[in-house]
Amino acid sequence: MIGRLNHIAIAVPDLTAAAALYRDTLGARVSDPIDLPDHGVTTVFVELDNSKIELLHPLGDGSTIAKYLERSPDGGMHHICFEVGDIIAARDKLKAEGARVLGDGEPRTGAHGKPVLFLHPKDFCGTLIEIEQD
Ligand code: CO
Repeated sequence: MIGRLNHIAIAVPDLTAAAALYRDTLGARVSDPIDLPDHGVTTVFVELDNSKIELLHPLGDGSTIAKYLERSPDGGMHHICFEVGDIIAARDKLKAEGARVLGDGEPRTGAHGKPVLFLHPKDFCGTLIEIEQD
């Protein structure tokens, strides 16, 4: 059911430093910071040949990334995102298998303008999973 690994998202306490680390130390292509107010994050996209890394920093009050950084001040992997061909069919199959879909279970528009859903980390080996319509 899942297709390509779309991205791995990493919460970071210092977005400028993290972008410099990926650009200068690791030699990757990185975007300028992009504010995504609907998601409570500022993101830097790291473009790899076969996938992306998204560096996430809290934006505004109540950001889930701020809560994550309270628990993990150095930052850390926040979620991984898989592409699916049909997000509604994927959701229905996952629910039928007993997986918990976060929120109201209806897809929201994600960071790339496509519908996304998040799955409970306790149902997936302690990893928050995002699925995105490809
Ligand atoms: Co994501």
